[in-house]
Amino acid sequence: MIDAHEDRVGPIVTLDGPAGSGKSTTAREVARRLGFRHLDSGALYRALTLALLESGIAQEEWAEMDEHAMRALDVTVTPRGTELEVTVGGRRVGRELRSEEVTSRVAYLASLPAARACLLNLQRAAGAQGRLVADGRDMGSVVFPHADVKVYLVADLGERARRRLKDGGVEEPSGDDVESQSAVIARRDRHDSEREHSPLRKPEDAHLLDTTRLTFEDQVTAVIELVEGV
Ligand code: C5P
Repeated sequence: MIDAHEDRVGPIVTLDGPAGSGKSTTAREVARRLGFRHLDSGALYRALTLALLESGIAQEEWAEMDEHAMRALDVTVTPRGTELEVTVGGRRVGRELRSEEVTSRVAYLASLPAARACLLNLQRAAGAQGRLVADGRDMGSVVFPHADVKVYLVADLGERARRRLKDGGVEEPSGDDVESQSAVIARRDRHDSEREHSPLRKPEDAHLLDTTRLTFEDQVTAVIELVEGV
């Protein structure tokens, strides 16, 4: 197993938290400003889900697959300049990772130990050089336990639902929209927090950042100040 702590030449920053807490957008912007790479680990779980859906393997069979079979689905993450490019079967993937089909199945896939093992080394290899901002559910607790700065982002459920809806193009979400989106997010949070392997939880040494009342700029600045403070 690669120990990201041993060989790296620059810092690793981890941002973990529940769905819609602002991890990915914050991590991307923090990375851009610091000139670091951004690892969106959720995108890897989504890419593996997409690969399974495209392979035609029935969902009931996913739990029977071992790590080797998961690897054969050919999900990769490769540095391209300051970007980390995610591919499935050699094809770059992006927007399709956010489809309803993928989103509704990804938390199940992420609960399978073979899937987590398959992606663990990919994530650590992406951080081997350091100068990385990684976001997800277990970046600070499992993947990069020796990270230099760990942040755990939280926000009220309703606020997270509103952000997700706005990201999806709904400018003025109605009360009903927020309620149904809150239920979807709460279900995924439950799945992620209650699973046996690498459940979502705040690492003891992580800084807690409640983003409910913060602007995006405030969030980014708060993380950068933590990085600059080490
Ligand atoms: O962050 P995002 O919503 O794209 O993540 C999709 C799903 O991937 C999460 O709901 C979670 O089930 C899984 N995931 C995970 N561990 C990570 C990142 C994502 O289990 N480090």
